[in-house]
Amino acid sequence: AAGRSERKEDHVRLAAAQWNAQRTTEFDDLEFVHHALAGVTPARVDLSVEMFGRTVASPFYINGMTGGTESTGRINRALAIAARETGLAMGCGSVSIALDDPSTADHFRVIRRENPDGIVMANLGVGRSAEDARRAVDLLEADALQVHVNAVQEIAMPEGSPELSDWLRDVEAIVESSAVPVLVKEVGFGLSRRTLAQLAGIGVTWADVSGRGGTDFLAIENDRRPGGDYSYLTGFGQSAPAALLESVRPDGWVRVGDGLTLFASGGVRNPLDVLKALALGARSVGVAGSFLKAVVDGGEERLIALIRTWQEHTRDLAALLGAATAAELTTTDLLIRGRLREFCDLRGIDAAAWSSRTPIL
Ligand code: FNR
Repeated sequence: AAGRSERKEDHVRLAAAQWNAQRTTEFDDLEFVHHALAGVTPARVDLSVEMFGRTVASPFYINGMTGGTESTGRINRALAIAARETGLAMGCGSVSIALDDPSTADHFRVIRRENPDGIVMANLGVGRSAEDARRAVDLLEADALQVHVNAVQEIAMPEGSPELSDWLRDVEAIVESSAVPVLVKEVGFGLSRRTLAQLAGIGVTWADVSGRGGTDFLAIENDRRPGGDYSYLTGFGQSAPAALLESVRPDGWVRVGDGLTLFASGGVRNPLDVLKALALGARSVGVAGSFLKAVVDGGEERLIALIRTWQEHTRDLAALLGAATAAELTTTDLLIRGRLREFCDLRGIDAAAWSSRTPIL
């Protein structure tokens, strides 16, 4: 467990160090068309969304990150206080370490202690049993379980030796027996249309495409690897905008599998990125790196202030775009440029259909 604790702390340190608000991403290849008379009064905007049968005030959440050591437990505590004060849902890092070493469990339990009524997601890597999934949920008294599929990270990780062939069956076993909703997510390399169709086929109803462009686990694992790294793989995978574009129709319906609700994350830097993901059909938007950076720099106060700003700005931007609800953002007009446009062409997606979704009158 010593090596594992070190890994948790390496992840936090390296993720915070690589965070960069100015980094360009494929979110920059998306632009809203401005309609000067389309606006609605900000006070009339309600961006609340439904997550796992409950209503949350904001269409973004704190994505799964950490726990299992003293210092990462303190980060979980700060994240949980911020979630409580702002009404955001939140995830945590893989609970696996606490299932194997109960002495570390309190570094996760602190989340529920600080935030008894909020929406909390437990987290586990694919490959653990359905029984372990139940224990992970119990440990946090969680409302849902995030199961992460991180093939790229497992390959690049010095400790990795994943049974990749069994993964779909492993997810299915967890979904079949879970008492709470299961959300399957990537960790920054994207879920393709094919992957989402496979997941829908085994009964998965919640997925977070978690694409590339933000926290880069290839770079993190490369930094942790003594030699022979995988830095040449940089850029592997799909961004969140690309993943949404290939799996959502311009009318906002998910094309892969009835009943699949998509969340998006990966490289969300600001409120505009949140709105772009919602406009591409995401139900809600996960944020890890940007919020971790705030906590590492300034504790829960810094994060609470940042989240409050995002809450104000997402409301004001929706008002500017003429959307009184999160769902109405899926009728905004979006221009798709650059590499993202090329992705659309290569994957047979009609980019132009996204640019004229509102009737001219
Ligand atoms: C993560 N992420 C993550 N995801 C997961 O499902 N289980 C985990 O244990 C972790 N651990 C973790 C640690 C740290 C320090 C970070 C920053 C992130 C991945 C996270 O949920 C998200 O998918 C990616 O980070 C992409 O989003 P951002 O960071 O670009 O907003």
